[in-house]
Amino acid sequence: MPYTVPKLSDFSPSALNNAVRELLSALEQESAAVASEHDWKTFRDRWMARRNGILTQLNDLWLKAAPGPNKRGVGQRVNELKTTVEQTVDATLVRIQSGASSGKLAAERLDITLPGILRPLGAEHPVIKTMNEIIGVFRNLGYSVEEGPEIETDYYNFEALNFPPNHPARDTQDTLFIAGQESKALRDRLLLRTHTSPVQIRTMQKMKPPVRVVCPGKVHRNDAPDATHSPIFHQVEGLAVDTNITFCDLKGTLDHAMKALFGSSVKTRFYPSFFPFTEPSADVQISCIFCDGKGVRDGAPCRNCKASGWIELLGCGMVDPNVYGFVDYDATKVSGFAFGMGVERIAILKYGVDDIQLFFQGDVRFLEQFG
Ligand code: DAH
Repeated sequence: MPYTVPKLSDFSPSALNNAVRELLSALEQESAAVASEHDWKTFRDRWMARRNGILTQLNDLWLKAAPGPNKRGVGQRVNELKTTVEQTVDATLVRIQSGASSGKLAAERLDITLPGILRPLGAEHPVIKTMNEIIGVFRNLGYSVEEGPEIETDYYNFEALNFPPNHPARDTQDTLFIAGQESKALRDRLLLRTHTSPVQIRTMQKMKPPVRVVCPGKVHRNDAPDATHSPIFHQVEGLAVDTNITFCDLKGTLDHAMKALFGSSVKTRFYPSFFPFTEPSADVQISCIFCDGKGVRDGAPCRNCKASGWIELLGCGMVDPNVYGFVDYDATKVSGFAFGMGVERIAILKYGVDDIQLFFQGDVRFLEQFG
């Protein structure tokens, strides 16, 4: 029930006290319930409107109705109430305008003296950081960056890279094929790219030589996860095609890149290998960064290089002339080299990580060490 001003029949001080107490308690409650400027206007008018506001009613129902001997006392009380009501109405406005409040607005109050919420700064993921470092080394040599799709066709992932259909070299890459494609021609069937080498083909299809590109990205293989394998990992591919590019250029470029990534004392060694899209092909080994290429550390055989003093890091070679045939380059006029490296493998060596799975588990305690 909202408060209404009672008619008084008893004007004794104690009866007045009771009536005043009730009025003040109604004033306080109604003030506390004011939550907006609109509420406040209603509140103000209810108490102070000249026509029929509560103060006006006090005049009529208490003061004018008081018998002669009580008039003075009642007049004093009504005057005091007038001041209290005016002050309360003013203070209520100040409260809602400053945002401070009692009651339901407390939750919305902004206390600017509270300490803020500390949001930890993120760090670049070690794989991305390593990938950017690798890209940076080649950018400084004038290479630009190209990307391609992770869902590839058999044509780009294999055929145009000189892996003929049914060729055993396809078995070296455990491929994840997209299901339900049997009705398509083999070259159009989709798969998850097993390497970034298809971007070489896509790049040569859209650019004429000279070409110098690096192609970073995710690749997928049907490998069960363990400390050294992951079904998803990252590679950076490189391709340089121009007139008169030789194996010396390949060696010099990769030797420089390995020194830039692992330190200038690192040595490189090129070991014969096979890839369908390069001829000749090589694996690049670097001198073991854990035992300085000695094969022995702390008097025991070095575990990182299996005591050989060398660590195998990437594949490379001179672009096979057959590949130029797929992209309309004249193999009699241009030559080039290509290389491909696993980013996790390089990050593992650079940061001394012993389990590739750590890169994918999202454990903040591991990741924040790279901030
Ligand atoms: N694509 C190869 C792989 O994933 C790596 C590679 C080797 C890339 C030699 C190259 C290359 O460009 O020339 O195993």
